[in-house]
Amino acid sequence: MKDHFLTLLRRRETDTAGFRFAAHRLASLIAQEIADELPLKAEKIHTPMGETTGASFDKEVVLIPILRAGLAFLPAFLALFKNASIGFLGIRRSEKDAHPHLYYQNLPEIRSDAYVFLLDPMLATGGTANLALETLAEKGVSPAMTFLANFISSQAGIESVQSRRPRLKIHTAAVDPHLDSKKVIVPGLGDFGNRYFGT
Ligand code: URA
Repeated sequence: MKDHFLTLLRRRETDTAGFRFAAHRLASLIAQEIADELPLKAEKIHTPMGETTGASFDKEVVLIPILRAGLAFLPAFLALFKNASIGFLGIRRSEKDAHPHLYYQNLPEIRSDAYVFLLDPMLATGGTANLALETLAEKGVSPAMTFLANFISSQAGIESVQSRRPRLKIHTAAVDPHLDSKKVIVPGLGDFGNRYFGT
């Protein structure tokens, strides 16, 4: 199903409602994929009929959407991780050279054993993700506890992020081959924020 929703996102004819629908469905699949990787703690439980061993997830989760496009991931991740804390990083790419600039941060306390999910639909050059990860590293967040969720990544973006932080886990629905001269992913889906927010 990931390919189906990804195709809806990529199609230029998809309208705002269809784009939001596909983004939310694809985000749910990626959130589930990440959740399936997290270790569970075994515990003895009682059913109405007797005793058995169950499994539960008892770690803290911190969701960090990168403004503004990363907000598209929030409903799906909150549906699974209902108690998650939420932090925000505002990062804007310069229109001239796509250089990232951190213009806003509002992060909660992050324990060293918390899982941190960095949410950003498009991983293009890797500049935005690297700046976000540097900002989190200053707060003591380890790449080994961090998952980066994307819809589409470029090959160059993945290499840039992974070469700096090999222990980071990247979950993406597609890896595209090219970036154009403005650092937009090709074939990609265009400007995610403009299409999701209808601007
Ligand atoms: N951001 C987008 O919205 N699209 C791209 O292709 C790259 C970055």
